[in-house]
Parts: sequence; structure tokens; C-alpha cells
Amino acid sequence: MGDIFERLVKNYGPLGQHRERAHGYFAFPKLDGEISNRMNFRGKEMIVWSLNNYLGLANHPEVRKTDADASAQYGLATPMGARMMSGNSDYHEQLEAELAAFEEKEDSILMNYGYQGIMSTIDAICGRHDVIVYDAEAHACIIDGLRLHPGHRYVFKHNDVEDCKKQLERATALIEKQKSGGILVITEGVFGMAGDQGKLKEIVALKSKFDFRLLVDDAHGFGTLGERGAGAGEAQGCQDGIDLYFSTFAKSMASIGAFMAGPKVIIDYIRYNIRSQIFAKSLPMPFVIGNLKRLELLRTKPELKNTLWKNALKLQQGLKDRGFDIGNTDSVVTPVYMKGGVEEATAMVMDLRENYRIFCSIVVYPVIPKGHIIYRLIPTASHTDQDIEETLKAFSETKEKLVAGEYKVSMIPDMAEKKF
Ligand SMILES: Cc1ncc(COP(=O)(O)O)c(C=O)c1O
Repeated sequence: MGDIFERLVKNYGPLGQHRERAHGYFAFPKLDGEISNRMNFRGKEMIVWSLNNYLGLANHPEVRKTDADASAQYGLATPMGARMMSGNSDYHEQLEAELAAFEEKEDSILMNYGYQGIMSTIDAICGRHDVIVYDAEAHACIIDGLRLHPGHRYVFKHNDVEDCKKQLERATALIEKQKSGGILVITEGVFGMAGDQGKLKEIVALKSKFDFRLLVDDAHGFGTLGERGAGAGEAQGCQDGIDLYFSTFAKSMASIGAFMAGPKVIIDYIRYNIRSQIFAKSLPMPFVIGNLKRLELLRTKPELKNTLWKNALKLQQGLKDRGFDIGNTDSVVTPVYMKGGVEEATAMVMDLRENYRIFCSIVVYPVIPKGHIIYRLIPTASHTDQDIEETLKAFSETKEKLVAGEYKVSMIPDMAEKKF
């Protein structure tokens, strides 16, 4: 008989295998100081492009004060217990009502984490005869939700509406044969890696030909898209056609928690059947009160979103003008596509950090195909023109070095903070 622990230490997985050289630097880095455009990394100040603090709310003085006051008044324990048992409060219900109104839905339900919330919503609302049709690049929380689904699931090619239609035809045929079940389509408002918006308007239009319900994970669209910041549904003018609208508080709201908004009767059903909330302690009061403040600022301070977009467009245009490939982003998420091996990518990231003081995230094989590198830049309202200019200069210079083969190293440099 094999021993599970023995197997695990023989193979730490595709990313874990690099931990001896990467831990604390390429993976699990520690950024110190106030969350902002510039933070400290290993004792050096860096321009930070890897935080989803889109609106700059993380260090907004009103937010910091509200968080502090609510913590002083309630501590982190209140309210104790799961919402259903003893953990409900007027503040929780107020936040749900305000989120629902903002998203033009009848009701909403709070979730402690978006990841668990999406998984558990899929589990709660889909039965074994239901079919889920989903985008191939759906976030891990959607994929894990599908693992809980006992029925069929059909994937459509990323943002390919024709293929979505084909999968809807397959799903419809299966349901007609089974004589029971329905269809749930799941996609995203903005795909967080490439920054392209989901084709929500086109998918909603398919409702004239097919019977289905649509769930949209708008983690990156909430607060950043649409005239009021209500997200990708508002931006594309199809919020009505989204049956269940989801966002986390981990990005524009710079906090913790999430919500799902939709028709009152369905949200009530979820409230009484979502296992990740029923069997877990409710969101502590400082988070709820802090999220009410963030939502108020998000709604009443359009200048935050305007500054975010001014910065994003300046960065994106600057990259394009310098010949960089930023793909099809139509959100503030800014990917930069380059070619190179994992080792080269790490050497370039080191140069960017150590010599140019630019901190950004990279995505390499096995997350994306071999030979490709994606630098992912997240502009925020707290970045400055100077940050953008310095970054564009650094990218131009390091790209030249990459093309000249200056980063060709045979292995990932050993930058680990601790020895394993
Ligand atoms: C698209 C998307 N959905 C869901 C989540 C998970 O949200 P949370 O961090 O609240 O668990 C994330 C990441 O935060 C995300 O990017």
C-alpha cells in the first residue's frame, strides 16, 4: 500500500517543484507597507502592478477609519455563528439590500469568500438532470463548482458565441431526451488573465432561441466597468438578462467577502441551501461595515473609476506605441505577451525588480503553453503618471535584453528566502 504523504514529497507539483529557488521571491513574495502604488519588497521600494486594488480603496482614509472604528466597536468575532443560526445582523441585511439595489436585482446574499460562494451556489442550484454550459477559461472556482455537479457539463471555446450555441443545442437535446432538467450558462464579466470581457450581450441574446439561466462572475468588472461601476452587465447594456450576478469584494472593494444578486425567490432558495454559508461562521462585522463604506465610495466617487481608466488607458496605449502585444483586453487588466522560457522569464522579472524597481506578476508554463510569458499589470486609481512612464521605460529596456538573449539562463535563479 502506498503512503499518501510519501507520494506528495516525491512530487510537489508543477509550481511547487520550483519552491526551493522561488519561495519568497517569485512565489509567496512579501510586500510591506501601506497598500499603494509603491510598496517595499525585500527592503527596496517598488512600483507595484500586481494588486487588484482597482479603485485605490485599500488605503482610502475613510475606509481605514471605518475599518478601525468597526473593529474597535465589534472586534472580529461579532456576530458569532453561521447566519442561519446566530450570526445575522441588520448590517449584513443592509449590505445585501444595497448591493442588490446597485446591481438592479431584487435581492442578494453575502458570502464569506467568492471562491467558496460560487462553488457552493452551483452545488445548491443545480441538480443531476441539469446541464451546465461554461466558458473554457472560467476561473478555478467555477471549475471546482463543476466538480460538485453530478450532471452533465459542456464547455464552449473561450468567448466563442457560435460554440456556446452548439453546446446549448447539445444541452437542449439531452434535456429533451431526459424529459427533465434545465440549463445554467456560466461565464465571466472580465477574464482576469487576458482582460477581455465576456460576450454577455451575445450570450443573453441566445435566450431568444434557447431556455437557460445565466450566471456571471464579474469579479474584475464590478467597480471598474459601466457608467455607475455596476460591472460588465451595465457596460454591455444587458444586466437584465443576467439571472445571477456575482462579484467578490477582493478586488475593487479591497476587502474580503462576496455576493450573489438575483431574483428574490432564488436568492432566498440559495440562502437556505448554500452549504458553504450555512455551515460556516458569518462574515465578521468589521468586514460588513467596511464593505458598506466601500460600496458608498464606489457609488458616490466616480472620480476613482475615472482615474483608474485614465491610468489604464495611458499604460495600455504606451505599451502599444512601444510595440508590445497586449492582446484583446477591453478592461483595465493589462497583459503583456512575450516569448521565452520559464527561466528567462524569471531572470527578466528579477531585473525588473532589482534594477528597475517594478513589481509585477508573471504567468508561465504550465499555466500557459511552453515558450510563452504573460506579464500581468493591474493599474489602479493610486498609480501616477510617473509610475507609468518609469514602467514603460523599464519594459522597453528589458524587452530589448530579452530579445538579445541576455536573460538566457539554464535554471531559475535561487532567490528563496528560506532553505527547505
Ligand atoms: C474571477 C474570480 N472569481 C472568483 C474569485 C474568488 O474570490 P475570493 O477571493 O473572494 O474567494 C476570484 C479571485 O479573487 C476571481 O478572480
